[in-house]
Amino acid sequence: MDILVVGGGWFLGKAVVEEALGRGWGVTTFNRGRSGVAFPGVRQVLGDRTSAEDLARLAEQGPWDAVIDTSAAYQPPKVVLAGTRALEDAAARYVYVSTVSVYAGWPEHPLKVGDPLLDGPADADSEYGKNPEGWRGPNLHYGRQKAGGERAVTEAFGAERSWLIRPGVILGPNEYVGRLPWWLRRAGRGGQILAPGSADKGIQPVDVRDVARFAVDLAARPGGGVYNATAPIGRDTMGSFLEACLAVTGDRGVLQWVPDEVLLEQGVRQWTEVPLWRTGKGVWLVDSEPAYAAGFVCRPLEETVRDTWEWLRRGNKPVPHPRAAAIGIDVDRERTILAAAGSIH
Ligand SMILES: NC(=O)c1ccc[n+]([C@@H]2O[C@H](COP(=O)([O-])OP(=O)(O)OC[C@H]3O[C@@H](n4cnc5c(N)ncnc54)[C@H](OP(=O)(O)O)[C@@H]3O)[C@@H](O)[C@H]2O)c1
Repeated sequence: MDILVVGGGWFLGKAVVEEALGRGWGVTTFNRGRSGVAFPGVRQVLGDRTSAEDLARLAEQGPWDAVIDTSAAYQPPKVVLAGTRALEDAAARYVYVSTVSVYAGWPEHPLKVGDPLLDGPADADSEYGKNPEGWRGPNLHYGRQKAGGERAVTEAFGAERSWLIRPGVILGPNEYVGRLPWWLRRAGRGGQILAPGSADKGIQPVDVRDVARFAVDLAARPGGGVYNATAPIGRDTMGSFLEACLAVTGDRGVLQWVPDEVLLEQGVRQWTEVPLWRTGKGVWLVDSEPAYAAGFVCRPLEETVRDTWEWLRRGNKPVPHPRAAAIGIDVDRERTILAAAGSIH
């Protein structure tokens, strides 16, 4: 097998490259070479996916059995469309990493493949579907842009040559958004720790290496289709997750559970200020059963927590990224909220 990874240097793409190299496959990466890692044994084509010239030069380096596109987190659909059109004759199939945010019902409703998607045309630019000023709901702009990206992929490659993967929250070594690293550092600092909501609230983060393995599996599979990629509903809880963070960092802290209502009253920003906390009823009710039936395996969340802590302890740092700045609650604000909840003893 010979694959092209569009991206490949920061987090999920890096894990995809490692997985494919581990299988002895030929790997080409396409990125700007500004950040992240360059792998020995990988053919790195430097270029910008927003440039028609660079895409044409890339297509000449083919053919490949598959493209795996991990780099379209914030690329507008029209950029994805230009890229897929440039590559449609250079690769047999296209694996596009999308997100559960494409569903119109996320995060309020339980979701399965086939549920209605947000709007977002295949040729939309980055202005399309922007969130209104001061919007505090789910990031519809991101969801619409990724939904348009999915449409762009199927428009160029056809549904029979397009694999679309919709992960929920991805955690693991190299995570640059900083959700799990923040919780691990917070647990390691100890003391009274603001634990959001309730301990028995189910959560569904997925390990980056498991998404990568599934993407690489699909790259080798003729055909096309759509899969959600989350941990099983109800397998993990916020409580078991935070206990795992405490366990690997030396059991220094005590969890103080603060109900959703108090966090909402205090104006805590969902998703970012207290990472992984979100009150929508459907956030963690994403059905990924069809993916498990297709070979997707989710390792225990405790393993993701342990390996990420080991990775941090070795002094590793993720690629610097603006999204990381929004993550985590300030120490004083945490104390204020614990006091408001009557949780400081
Ligand atoms: N994190 C989550 O919880 C989560 C959840 C659901 C879905 N997802 C999806 O998963 C994917 C995450 O992938 P990742 O960021 O970890 O992938 P990655 O492939 O590890 O990193 C992004 C790569 O894109 C390259 N890149 C950025 N802009 C580029 C451009 N204009 N032209 C060419 N290359 C460019 C970067 O390298 P250079 O800077 O050197 O160009 C880097 O190698 C995204 O599609 C995201 O939507 C993430």
